[in-house]
Parts: sequence; C-alpha cells; structure tokens
Amino acid sequence: MTALSELEKTSAQDPAWWRQAVVYQVYPRSFADSNGDGIGDLPGITGKVPYLRGLGVDAVWLSPFYPSALADGGYDVDDYRDVDPRIGTLEQFDELRAALHGAGIRLIVDIVPNHTSNRHVWFREALDSPPGSRARERYIFRPGRGEHGELPPSDWTSTFGGPAWEPVGDGEWYLHLFAPEQPDLNWADDEVRQEFLTTLKFWADRGVDGFRIDVAHALAKDLTEPLASQADLEADIWGGAHPLEDRDEVHDIYREWRRLFNRYDPPRTAVAEAWVPAHRRSRYASPDGLGQAFNFDLLEAGWDAAAFTGIIDKNLALARESGASSTWVLSNHDVVRHATRYALPDGTDLAAWLTGDGADPRPDEARGLRRARAATLLALALPGSAYLYQGEELGLPEVADLPADVLQDPTFLRSGGEQKGRDGCRVPLPWTSHGPTLGFGDQLAHLPVPADFGRFAVEHQETDDESTLSFYRRALAERRRLQTEESLEWLASPHPTVVAFRRPGGWTSVTNFGSSPAPMPAGSVIVSSAPVEGREVPAEATVWLLQDHPHDD
Ligand code: NOJ
Ligand code: CA
Repeated sequence: MTALSELEKTSAQDPAWWRQAVVYQVYPRSFADSNGDGIGDLPGITGKVPYLRGLGVDAVWLSPFYPSALADGGYDVDDYRDVDPRIGTLEQFDELRAALHGAGIRLIVDIVPNHTSNRHVWFREALDSPPGSRARERYIFRPGRGEHGELPPSDWTSTFGGPAWEPVGDGEWYLHLFAPEQPDLNWADDEVRQEFLTTLKFWADRGVDGFRIDVAHALAKDLTEPLASQADLEADIWGGAHPLEDRDEVHDIYREWRRLFNRYDPPRTAVAEAWVPAHRRSRYASPDGLGQAFNFDLLEAGWDAAAFTGIIDKNLALARESGASSTWVLSNHDVVRHATRYALPDGTDLAAWLTGDGADPRPDEARGLRRARAATLLALALPGSAYLYQGEELGLPEVADLPADVLQDPTFLRSGGEQKGRDGCRVPLPWTSHGPTLGFGDQLAHLPVPADFGRFAVEHQETDDESTLSFYRRALAERRRLQTEESLEWLASPHPTVVAFRRPGGWTSVTNFGSSPAPMPAGSVIVSSAPVEGREVPAEATVWLLQDHPHDD
C-alpha cells in the first residue's frame, strides 16, 4: 500500500461521507473461506476487496467476527476486543482495514452492547460469585419467586422463544432477552458503561470508521418491582413507558458515545438497530446520539406503490426532523432475502412458509428477481444511505429447504423445531459454478451451498452484461456520479401503480409496480432493472432517466 491511501487523503475533508453511502453488509462466516476449513474468514474478505471495489460500495459493515461459541451466529460475544481464531487475528483485521481503505472503502463493525455471551469473563465471574456480589451487578440477576426461588422472577418470554429468565441454581435467575447464552447487561452499572467506551475506542483507534449498534433500543431497562407481566409488555406501551424497550434514558448512553466519536477526525459514525415505532426513530438518529438509525419499513412492506410512496415520504420527513439522513434496507442477515419475498404472494406468512421447506406456495423466482431488482433500483435512487446485504447483488434467493441437522439459528432449537429461523439467508456465497462449495472455500462450508447456486456464481455474472451483478455495478456507478444534495421531488404519476421522482440534476427514477408497461417520462435511460423497449417502463421494473432539461416535462 502506498503511503497515504485514496481514502486517507480525502476522508478528513468529508465528515459527512456516511450520509448517502452505500454500505455492504458482510456476514463473515459466509463470505469467503481462505483456508478451506468451511468458515469464512478475514483473509477471505481481504481477497475480495477488488470485488467490492468493482461493485462500487462506499463502506463495508462486518457482522460480528469476535470470539464466540456461535449460540446466535456471533451475536453472543465472548471478547469484544479480539477476533475469533476461526475467523482470523487482529493483524489480519488490520490488513483488511488497510486493504479496504486503500480501495476507498470505509469499515463499520458491529457492536453488541445489550448482552454478552455466557462465556464472557464477566459472566463466568458472576456465576462463580454469590447473590448480591459485585460481579452479579453487571448483569440482571433477580431472586426467583416461590418458596425456594423455583419460579422465574416474571413470565417474560425471550425473542427466540422460551422463558427470558434462566436459573443459576442458588435461587437467582438472570435475564436474557435473546438466547440463554446471551445474558443481558445491566446498563445502570458504571463499569459496564466504561467498558463499552473502552471497546469503542479500541476499534476507533484501529481505524474503524463507524459502528452498527445491535438492539440499540433495549439497553436501558426499568426493573422496579413489581415487574410487569408479559401481557403488559405486549400491550401498546411504547413512547418511553415500556420497561424494557425504547426508554428515554437510553439516549444518555448514546450522548456519551457521541462525545467519544466526535473526538476523531472524521468523527466516527454509528447506525442504530432500533426496533421502535417510526416516530421514535429520530431520537436514535439525532446528531448528539448515534447519528443514524435503520429504517426497516421497505423491508417490511409488500410490493405496493402506495406503500412505497408513503414510506419514502414519512422517512424523508423523519430524517429532516433528526438532521440525519434516512437509511434504506431491503435485506439483511435476519430476514428472508428480498428476491424470495417478492416471489411469494403478498402477505405470505414467511415463518410458516419456511417451516414447510419453501414448498407451499412455490416461489415464482423470475417474478421475485424482477421485483427485487426494481425495488433495489428505486431504493438506490433515494436520498440517504442504502444498506445492501451480501449476495443480493447476485439475486440470491433464500435457501428454504436446509435440512434440520445443519440449522444453527437458536430460533430453530428454542421453538422446538417449529420455526426454521434465519439460516436460509446466511448460506455462503457462490463465487464459481463448480466444486463442492462453489468457490466459497474448498470441500466444506459451515452451511451447505446448494448445487443450483452455481447459476448465481460471480464467475458467470461478471461476464454477463445482463446479470444482476452487472446491473448492481451499473446502478452504483451511476448513483455515485449523480448523487448530490439530499432532496427529492415527486413527479405526477400517470397511474397509481407508478412511482416517479426526480433528484437534483435531472436524475429521475420511475418504478412501475403494475403488470403492464407504463409510459416513460422524457429523458435518456441510464439504468434499468429490466430490458427497455421503446418509450415504456416495463411491468415490474424501475428505470433511471437523465433529463437534459429537468423543467420541460
Ligand atoms: C439483532 C441481530 O441482527 C440478530 O442477528 C441477533 O440475533 C439479535 N440482534 C440479538 O443480538
Ligand atoms: Ca476459514
């Protein structure tokens, strides 16, 4: 690497790089395996930096790569300031960072502050210490109910199913909002707060540009007795009154983090994963807090023009309110891939569909991919940042028929096999069309790569101008060229199934949600999600146009 990388030369002048960045999420175990042990690793990612550069992303977000027993895909962290030996070393992390920066790509890491793993040194100490001890104060221990503490402190259930309390054998129970291997931390404890500041500083000093904050809405909790019932928790008590989620005090934590982030040049960025109602999202995205928050509204919406328009309007207004830019997400490691969601009838119960191995109903793959490309191109035209999930640029579908004996998601085990969980979107990427793991690694992959993934291999798509990969590359290159200020002007639509808007400079995006072609506004076509014939926007397609005279139409 030369003395000063491209990024290092320009970043100091661009503290706002994140506002309209394209961020590519890497799920490290499933991206690229450099040593053939079946587990994707940091050198594997480093080897693919030219691919990421060719794709045209601005930043990479790494899902957790820390030492972990993988009770929840790495979101059960044993040590926040190290790399899982199966994934690499700190030196290899530095090499990856340098390679990304050398290619002009920023690096975001995942911070998991709501819970540690049960193998974290603090939790081991807590288990070895008696009730009432200092070690237990870092977590949420409570005496059980009943004569001998044999009943949990409350009837709360965990996100992955089953009770949210686990007994430790001495009358006390600890809280875990997720798996039992993920004990919740006590954020009222000063040592917990200091420890995370140390961790954030550790990564920021190592040149990390930003952080994705897991479960950002749940750190602050009100555990005053008597504890609410599960029925109370499920009642509509948002807006700061819920004992476990979205409490106002959580922002004291993020204000302290922001002061740390702002000590760096450029300031470190952060994006909150906060599952809160839209009107509460701005608090997480405020400039004196994390600065940005995920908006999962498009990911939750069906294929519907009115829904998309409403979501865009609402979120751009919210972004103006917070001073942040909006975020747009169609896929991530927690949800059924969007090429498959759109291949199913609107309103399909996705969990039930997965339980049936994806057989009923059968996805209409061509339709799913057509709509996925159209939705992606629409999202990429919006003001704000776009978060892409590895493999969506290949048009990968969900793998719905993974056999039970390979499933890893705690959802599967905790639901007694009733829910399959999220492994189907975490299958390793196909780089080539041959070999047992299609170029992911050698003979092994920690989740099996279906043979028919060869159809989606990077190797094929790279040389095919019509492929989804070529389409993403064109879209990202044009976006980079056209992106200016964060504003959008709606264009009068000829039909309720057509969504059209213009960005400054005459950049126009038109999406036809309908099933027959729609008239195309003036301008020359620069990218389209489907082949264009004549002056029509194809059915279920998005077209970007450049209007030479933006005010002529
Ligand atoms: C959100 C993460 O995205 C998900 O994968 C994880 O299971 C939970 N948080 C718990 O950490
Ligand atoms: Ca490996």
